[in-house]
Amino acid sequence: MHICKTIDEFRNFRHTVSEKKVIFVPTMGALHEGHGSLVQMARRLAGSSGVVATSIFVNPTQFGPNEDFHKYPRPFEQDVANLIRWEADVIFSPSPEEMYPAGSATSIDPGPLGNVLEGAIRPGHFKGVCTVVAKLLGIVEPAAMILGQKDFQQQRILRQMITDLNMPVELITAPTARESDGLAMSSRNRYLSSDQRARATAIYRALCHAQNQYHSGIRDSAVLQAGMIEQITQAGLEVQYALACDPETLVPYTGIVGAPCVLLIAAKLGTTRLIDNVLIS
Ligand code: PAJ
Repeated sequence: MHICKTIDEFRNFRHTVSEKKVIFVPTMGALHEGHGSLVQMARRLAGSSGVVATSIFVNPTQFGPNEDFHKYPRPFEQDVANLIRWEADVIFSPSPEEMYPAGSATSIDPGPLGNVLEGAIRPGHFKGVCTVVAKLLGIVEPAAMILGQKDFQQQRILRQMITDLNMPVELITAPTARESDGLAMSSRNRYLSSDQRARATAIYRALCHAQNQYHSGIRDSAVLQAGMIEQITQAGLEVQYALACDPETLVPYTGIVGAPCVLLIAAKLGTTRLIDNVLIS
């Protein structure tokens, strides 16, 4: 396993594999089996002759002032052990100063998709995500990047950025990995108490219920959304949004829900925010 802490170190490594197909999985570390499913997909796509590149960087610019940047978990040794187990080849893990040296000033505006849903609750979040991912792509120069469907809006916005900025990379969206009771795997699940952990399952239950309603012919957005809100609220969670949206525009359906459709939920358990979604195509 190659571990590169600086951009120069990574570029030197990259030079030695210039003829090989590089597949990239960016992360903020605190890795779980959801990240593992992405890295293992990268391994399959790269084959034994290709290169699986990962990054571990808790990106300060995508955290709001009252968010968990400082307390975000950083179990680096454990992350390295997992990445060896999942057969990654290289880890790029720069410091904040390496990525944002004094005087760095340029950022990427994600446009209107960045202002809705997560972006409405976390102003500036997607500007930080776009900026860091653009920088990472410029350093790693992969043929393809794998992102999780778990962060639906993130993969939608980054797909738009890649198109709009003519970046020569293929974007692959991988399915959401779940615990056996349906809870989407997340680095933030470790903040939950055992009581909160049990209640958190309401999110995926509510999504599945609305999906079943949709398939049984119920297409009234108000009915689907009210059903999701009721189930999550009953479990003691604070709903931030529970919507049926167009997966391309991320605009919530009003009236009749069309196809395709993505059901999106964000809810809080104490101070922990959880998000999840189900795509109906
Ligand atoms: P992070 O939250 O560490 O997630 C890294 C990648 O793993 C993202 O593409 C995310 O969608 C995916 N992922 C997380 N949980 C998943 C799950 N349960 N199933 C499948 N994929 C899952 O997302 C970020 O980091 C950052 O915003 C980043 C893109 C690295 C930019 O800083």
